[in-house]
Order: sequence, then C-alpha cells, then structure tokens
Amino acid sequence: MKESYITTAIPYVNGNPHLGHVMDYLLADTLRRYMMSKGMKVRFQAGTDEHGNKIYKKAAEAGIDTQDFVDQNATRFQEFIHSLGVEYTDFIRTTNPDHERRCQEIWKKLGDHIYKDKYEGWYCEGCESFVTDTEYADNNGVCPDHKKPYTKLSEENYYLRISDFKDEIRAKIESDEMKITPAFRKKEFLNLLEKMPDVSISRPKSQVAWGIPVPGDENQVMYVWIDALANYITVLGYPDNDISADWPAHTQIVGKDILRFHAGIWPAILLGLGLPLPKNLLAHGFITVNGEKMSKSIGNVVDPIEILDKHGLVPLRYYFLRHASTTDDSDFTWDKYEASYNELANDLGNLVQRLATLCKKNEIAGRKVARRDEPEFDAKMDVYEFNFAFDLLWKQIGDLNKRIDAEKPWALAKTNPEQAKEVLESLVDELLTINERLAIFIPSTAEQIASIFTADAIQPPATPLFPKN
Ligand code: MSP
Repeated sequence: MKESYITTAIPYVNGNPHLGHVMDYLLADTLRRYMMSKGMKVRFQAGTDEHGNKIYKKAAEAGIDTQDFVDQNATRFQEFIHSLGVEYTDFIRTTNPDHERRCQEIWKKLGDHIYKDKYEGWYCEGCESFVTDTEYADNNGVCPDHKKPYTKLSEENYYLRISDFKDEIRAKIESDEMKITPAFRKKEFLNLLEKMPDVSISRPKSQVAWGIPVPGDENQVMYVWIDALANYITVLGYPDNDISADWPAHTQIVGKDILRFHAGIWPAILLGLGLPLPKNLLAHGFITVNGEKMSKSIGNVVDPIEILDKHGLVPLRYYFLRHASTTDDSDFTWDKYEASYNELANDLGNLVQRLATLCKKNEIAGRKVARRDEPEFDAKMDVYEFNFAFDLLWKQIGDLNKRIDAEKPWALAKTNPEQAKEVLESLVDELLTINERLAIFIPSTAEQIASIFTADAIQPPATPLFPKN
C-alpha cells in the first residue's frame, strides 16, 4: 500500500519549545490518526532547524559548543513532541551529515536556476532576514520585534530564480493541484506571488558561522531556504533514494507566517528538481495569549509544559483541538483553559462515570464496538476543519447525556429491569461508537473508555477520568 506523507514545520532550536509550536504537532497528529482510521498508512516527519547565527550566538552565550547545544535542544524538542502524545515516524535534524550532503546535491541539481549577484540593502540581525525598502520605510528603520535598527548590508549572495517558475506555481495553486487551505490564505498568497522577488539562498561565510557550505564556493554557506525546506525530502532519502512512494506529500502543515515560503520558494525548488508539488498546504493560525501576540518583551509567553503540568495531556489536546480553530488565530488564557477543563469533566467525565455506575448496578456486560459511518464528520475532517468535526462529537456526547436524563434507566430498573438493560446497552453502544472518533483527538481517554465499556463486566473507573480539584 502506498503511504501518505504528512509533514510539520521544523522549529529553530535556539530556545525551548513554546506554546506556538503545539499547533503544528497536534494538527498533524490529528490528521494522521484520522487517515489511519480510514485504513491509510501514514508517514509523518518532524524535525529541527539547527543552523544560523541565532543558534550560533545562543550556544556561545551559554558557553557550549554549537553542536552540543543543538544536540541538547533537539532532544528537548523530541521529548516535547512525545509529551503531546504525538507520534512521528521520521525525525530530521538539519545538522545531520546526510541531510547536509543531500542539500549540497540538491543545490547542484538546481543548476542554472541559481545565480550569483550582489545584495545591497537592509538586514535585521535579530530576524536574520533581509528587509525590503518598503518594510524599512514602514517600520522607520527599526525592527518592530527586536527594537533594533536595521543594518545596511552589501554582499555577494547566490539567488534562486523564482521568476523561472512563477507561472507554473500560480497555475498549480489556482487549479488546486497544490491546494492551499484556508482559501483566504490562498488568495492572499496569489497576490503576493505577483511581486515575489528572486530569493537569496546563501550568505558569505564571514557573515554566517554555522551553516552548510555551498558546493563549489568555499566563501559561501547556505542561508535558510534550501537547508530548511529540503528537509521534507532529504528525510525520505532524496536524492539517494527513489521517494515516489511518499512524495508528493499528502499534507504539509505550517503556521501562517511561513506559508509564503512553503507556497512560493519550496515549489520553485521542487519544480527545479523536477519533483511534483505537495497536494495540500495547510496554514494554521497563531495562538495568542490574553488576546496578544506572545512575546518575551510583553512577558506573556506561556510554557506548554506548565499547561501539561496543570491537568495533564488530554485537557491540553482537548483545548487546542476543539477550542482553537484549525485555520484562524486562537486565544489562550488560563480562565478559558479552566472552563474548558470543566466542560471536559462535566460532559464526558461525568457521562462515563454515571453510565458505568448504572451498568455495574444492573450487571451489564461489556459490549462490542458498533461501527458507523459519519459522513458529516468526515466532510469536516476532509477540509481540515478539525475543531468543527470535534464539535459534532461533542454534540453527540451532549445528546447522550440528555438521553440518560430522559430515559431514566435507574427508575426503569425498578419497574422493568429487562427494558432498563436494553436502554443501558443501547447507551453504551452509542458511547462506544462516538468513542471511535474521540480516539482521533484524545486517544488515551478513548482507550480508557473502550476498556471500561468492553470489559467482561462494566465498572466505573476508581477515580473519575477528569477529577475536580
Ligand atoms: N524554522 C522555521 C520553519 C522551517 S520549516 C522548513 C520556523 N521555525 S519557528 O520555530 O519559528 O516556528 C515553527 C512553527 O511554529 C511554524 O509553523 C510557526 O508558524 C509555528 N508558530 C510559531 N509561533 C506560533 C504561534 N504563536 N502560534 C501558532 N504557531 C506558531 O519558522
């Protein structure tokens, strides 16, 4: 069976994982579990972006060798991803020697699409990025994120000729051959593509201390794009291996800020290599905190580990998969988080406790899962509206709670035990059916529910699934 390949953005390892990194992984993992529930075989890449001056400087500040520094941080990211209950099949680090060699091969294969030219203009040291004259003017010469003046730069760089591919990229996006979700970002990007300049893909070695050498020019090292974007195929072994079993990717998941690189530069690289474009690009929104962008200077950065420590993994997954939108920005506050936890405990935790207790009292034996097609749910999942699909499940959970209240099996048990048994069995069957899909979002809870209601004798868990504190 052909595999379906899902990718996530590879974060920079100059700091610890932060709350913003949660969305890439949770969305990718949800898609993976959904696809697997449909019988598909999924390959799932994650990784770390480990080159550049920022990382080099951070290591120096910490007084650690750069490679040791990125080794430590890459491990931290792997642990972080696991702590989210997310399972990847492949992990790529951009300082991996195979990745570095493969990037050099890719560079050579791009041949005449790469040319050398002089760059003269503005640069932000903090962002490690070139700044256009318009941005310079808009920001009065000072980076709004780093509050530092832009510096003037004059140096030789290699460029990737995006102009060679613009028409083809546009056609493939317009026709949805490479489909960008959500549609409003597709539109936004198509407007941007018009003005997209050729992009600098190297910097002088004297300026970048930590990067992959450009093949055939010892004075230059690769700058960001080929090194980082190529991870999606070097991890599959390109160009050493035939990657057609996995490539083109089914879905590449990125945050909205890096969509333009994935929708413009990445397709140009792929077309230059004669490779097909990914079938889908999903751009998710940003997580804000108390309505504001997370930033060290505002002091509102929330550590995801703190959220995990509060109530554990399931409430975290529940919050970010149900109450955060897949495609728009979403806010986190501790108050909203507590409200969401209570909802989980009241709607689902109580349902499990109550139904299992009634089953025990009436000696109901565990049931087999009755599978059911859910076209409405699938329709939402298929267009990446995961949070709306989750809402549908929650509505079914609400309906089940209402049914218990209306059918009152505890009262029936006194007058008509046979009918009470039938009612309880039917309620359990319905819960087990809903549970099949809950497993896509909150797998460990779904496992608990399945084990309670399929056991020889149904018994409530010793402690509620979501205890009130
Ligand atoms: N290294 C690049 C990606 C290269 S991919 C070939 C990068 N790293 S990052 O660490 O800045 O971001 C990693 C991912 O986290 C990106 O998808 C980015 O959009 C996402 N997010 C960073 N902050 C975020 C929020 N506040 N909210 C949601 N996602 C955010 O960019």
